[in-house]
Amino acid sequence: MSLRVERDVPLAPLTTLELGGAAEAFVAVESEAECLEAVEYAQAHGLALTFLGGGSNVVVPDAGVSGLVVAMRNRGIQFEEAAGRSVILRAAAGEPWENVVDAAVSRELAGLECLTGIPGLAGATPIQNVGAYGQEIGDQLVSVEVFDREEGMRRVLGRDDCELAYRDSRLKRDPTRFVVLAVSFELERGGAPALRYGELAEACPASASLAEVRHTVLALRRKKSMVLDPDDPNRRSAGSFFTNPVVDDETYARVVDAALARGLVEREDAIPCFPSDGRKKLAAGWLIERAGIHKGLRRGRVGVSSAHALALVHHGGGSTSELLALAGEIRAKVAAVFSVKLECEPQLLGPHGAPALP
Ligand code: EPU
Repeated sequence: MSLRVERDVPLAPLTTLELGGAAEAFVAVESEAECLEAVEYAQAHGLALTFLGGGSNVVVPDAGVSGLVVAMRNRGIQFEEAAGRSVILRAAAGEPWENVVDAAVSRELAGLECLTGIPGLAGATPIQNVGAYGQEIGDQLVSVEVFDREEGMRRVLGRDDCELAYRDSRLKRDPTRFVVLAVSFELERGGAPALRYGELAEACPASASLAEVRHTVLALRRKKSMVLDPDDPNRRSAGSFFTNPVVDDETYARVVDAALARGLVEREDAIPCFPSDGRKKLAAGWLIERAGIHKGLRRGRVGVSSAHALALVHHGGGSTSELLALAGEIRAKVAAVFSVKLECEPQLLGPHGAPALP
């Protein structure tokens, strides 16, 4: 056994929020073989398994995480020519996501240019169907190579097997079953950049190159403190802390009534709202601000980002329980004003399963 399993390893430094306790047992794996060894090790020792990518979308409880935490560090990006102008890019799960975007854009391969500046590792991207600025992982995903713990074997899940939805997938809904080992995307050589998101289309000329679009997305993200920057006072965060609620017509009508009755908008079309599979996707950041939670609000050592109401930030020296209390306060405010329940976007790791939000 070549694995170096350590005991009582602090997890806060391995997360972008820099919060929470230690892993009971911890191992970093640099290859698929080591990852499978770690799965066997956990089984042999009766330890629960938790997989950690870049730590940019997780909340670690103050009490830490029981069992074995496996940090994915297997790297590598490969290209394979496919039919016509298609190229398949395969990334190992532990490859930093920005390297994947960089590899695609620098080869003039279209499909991932708007997904730049997102912290974390490639293997995490299909789990929550990462999306930003008009692109979603699901648009380009071909397959996900996994270890299926239920079947005890390596498998290739096609795009449809992953049952992707907005910030959701079968991999996310069944976290103890699938271990993501590698992800493949279909990209288009010489393809045009995606200029679908209003804010991006306004900031970019229609003739912009892939590299220019990527550059513009990075600038937009930086303005919202959504790029990891050691000098940014909002840097300790997990990006959007809540998903944008997708609501039916009845709920939407209640939101409109509440906003008009309180004088938050003069007209319905001032409420940001996007069609989503026959329903309506509202902007959680907008709801939070209009519910009276302002950017930059502080509660002890945690608060709301001063650049984007959807990001909760840790100012140093705080605790996960403080952060979750603030998340609970925000949810209660939005529910009271708009009768909409916000769902948490990051994965809440738990000593015994995921803890509920307050
Ligand atoms: N808004 C506010 N106040 C705020 C923030 C936003 O009123 O503090 C309003 C904006 O004016 C806009 C609307 O809300 O009308 C949408 O805001 P934005 O364009 O910033 O996007 P978002 O819906 O808040 C989503 C993703 C982000 C992604 C951006 C850009 C979710 C949960 N978040 O944010 O993803 O970068 O769109 O595509 O879907 C992440 O998931 O961690 C993340 C950063």
